[in-house]
Amino acid sequence: MVATPGAEGQQKPPATRPAASGSKPAAAPAAASYAQRFATLCASCHGANGRSVLPLTPVLAGQPSLYAITQLFLFREGRRSDPAMTAVAKTMTDDDMRGFSDYIGTLPPVPAPAPDTPPDPARMAKGRALADQYKCLFCHGADLGGGQQVPRIAGQHEEYLRESLRGFHAGTRPGYTQAMTAAVSGIPLADLDALAWFAARFGGK
Ligand code: HEC
Ligand code: HEC
Repeated sequence: MVATPGAEGQQKPPATRPAASGSKPAAAPAAASYAQRFATLCASCHGANGRSVLPLTPVLAGQPSLYAITQLFLFREGRRSDPAMTAVAKTMTDDDMRGFSDYIGTLPPVPAPAPDTPPDPARMAKGRALADQYKCLFCHGADLGGGQQVPRIAGQHEEYLRESLRGFHAGTRPGYTQAMTAAVSGIPLADLDALAWFAARFGGK
């Protein structure tokens, strides 16, 4: 289970409390209602089980709740920008961000569908060596499964990974911290693309 703050201990980072909302009870958002709202509001793009089939729409299954809430916060505050996702995030209250993120944190990882031909072993080995050299494994975990504020990247869509890495590199995708900008700033684009190819196909072993 993910760490959920108790009703009193609401100290998740993005807690910008709207001024005049004193009437709402300070209860943790009901998990069941966010499962339902996810099915209605998010599944059309991100997939019913959190595994989207759209190449530039990220897989949310297996993503840590803390990572999810930081990203929803960045979208809502207009710091991370995407026409579709910004519009969704702008409507969210703090409770919504917490409720959706907690729900995302309960979605088990869903592996990518098996490819027609297995990935080239030499290219996989090269990708793993780069991931070691550039410390991707150090922060994202040996299985690239992430944790806390660090996202899972194993099994994410290659196109989405490539765009994200190029965005951090170009400075067009701001992070919640400087970690990724610093991590990729000196890396040649060809190596970033090789890492995107690798991580998308990496099953965690
Ligand atoms: C119209 C399609 C669409 C809908 C509906 C939508 N999303 Fe998204 N979402 C996206 C896209 C596209 C991105 C990636 C944007 C980018 O590249 O910066 C994204 C990104 C995200 C991310 C960041 C993931 C990551 O790996 O960084 C989270 C979290 C998220 N969405 C949650 C939600 C939730 C919760 C809902 C429902 C309340 C929702 N989304 C509804 C399209 C959508
Ligand atoms: C110092 C720790 C650190 C290192 C090293 C690091 N990352 Fe990250 N990475 C993060 C954090 C933290 C985030 C969340 C970004 C944010 O702050 O919003 C992230 C985000 C990402 C994302 C965005 C995922 C998504 O769903 O949008 C990708 C892709 C990624 N990292 C790939 C890599 C790759 C590939 C490497 C190696 C070249 C790497 N990272 C090295 C900490 C790190």
